[in-house]
Amino acid sequence: MSAPSERYSSVAITLHWVIAIAILGMIFGGWYMSDLPDGAPGQYFLYQMHKSVGITILLLTVARIIWRAMNPPPSLPEDMNGLEKTASHLVHLGFYGLMIALPLTGWLYSSVSIKLDVPTVLYGVVSWPDVPFVEGLKTETASGAVNFIHSKLAWVALALLALHVAGALKHEFSAEEGVLKRMLPGLFGKTSKPATPSRGAVTAFGSALGVLLVVAGASPVLSILSGSGQAVTADAAFAQNWTVNPDASSIRFAGIHDGNAFSGAFSNWDAAIQFDPNAPNDAEVQVTVSTVGAQASQKLYTDSLPAPEWFNSAAFPTANVEILNIASSGDDTYTSTARLTLKDITVDADFPFTLQIDGDQAQMSGQAVFQRTALDLGQSSDPNAAWVSEDITVDVVVEATQSN
Ligand code: HEM
Repeated sequence: MSAPSERYSSVAITLHWVIAIAILGMIFGGWYMSDLPDGAPGQYFLYQMHKSVGITILLLTVARIIWRAMNPPPSLPEDMNGLEKTASHLVHLGFYGLMIALPLTGWLYSSVSIKLDVPTVLYGVVSWPDVPFVEGLKTETASGAVNFIHSKLAWVALALLALHVAGALKHEFSAEEGVLKRMLPGLFGKTSKPATPSRGAVTAFGSALGVLLVVAGASPVLSILSGSGQAVTADAAFAQNWTVNPDASSIRFAGIHDGNAFSGAFSNWDAAIQFDPNAPNDAEVQVTVSTVGAQASQKLYTDSLPAPEWFNSAAFPTANVEILNIASSGDDTYTSTARLTLKDITVDADFPFTLQIDGDQAQMSGQAVFQRTALDLGQSSDPNAAWVSEDITVDVVVEATQSN
């Protein structure tokens, strides 16, 4: 029996087991989620978790590689034969390659997939951009090839794992005893020699954090550059006699996503109003809504809305609504038609509302329901309304002051 060999540092042991368990979970979780039928409850959440944990593995791998460079691992037992040592090094090298290639191909696939054209928000909190400059790969063939590589690498990882476990067990229980113990946490590994003092935690984990901040930081910078902050004004060819009080007014939307209710609001809009309660049918109302500043109840939805398949805010920064055919139905209630133009598509919806006028102050509240597929919303990732409900309810509250 040879002398007990030196242990790995506790940071190396922690990184090893956290990443190993995460990768195994990702492989079985990845198979499970991609076998679910489209729109299965929770599938959307599983995809977001898969992407979040996968990016976490990538960042931990950055830390792990830097840690390893600064804290070389204990050498293999001297009595291990040369061939076994080479095989062991090759398997470890293969794992490092996979720890980078698996997340990178996953990230690339989710950036170019036509079917899964959905933003990534890590753990529902941090926006993670798509891989830049890969527009050219957004074809069925190229994205299919990336998906193929991503899924086959999982099998390579399992094959390497089999070799790795066999090697670890052999060298734990055979003549060169104790190889596995060096990588076991705490009590389990007690019999091996203590690790040499380690260094570089700040550099290793600081670099991983730096990568997170730089890549995730690119999203808000890009949206500021695209001009999300410009206030819109409703241009009207008619004389306006009411001015909207924006602080007391809102346009909110609501629907169902993956079985859960969601809601949101357009924060940047303006309305031009010409309205006489004695002649409602002569009224003119034009509303201009910025599609850029829509805020939803979850960050994932807020990030999704400006994307090409939803509002396509880069090409269509505003949507317009005209309120037509206003008719009184008694007791401060009215019927009307809301004509919405979004992405060059125009649809009409019933827009009943209540209106109370007190002196020069008016309070209005109304609701319309739009069918999102008719507006070409979400038609590449969810054409059959499997995840996002077909009906989107829009609630409008307006407080206005009469100006003349
Ligand atoms: C170590 C990290 C990762 C592992 C082990 C892993 C593993 C897997 C596996 C086994 C599948 C199922 C493939 C199949 O259908 O046969 C899968 C699918 C997928 N992965 Fe990963 N993955 C990792 C990281 C990532 C990352 C970082 C992302 C994106 C940011 C990602 C995005 C995806 C997507 C979108 C699918 C679904 C493919 C589909 O349904 O068509 N993966 N992954």
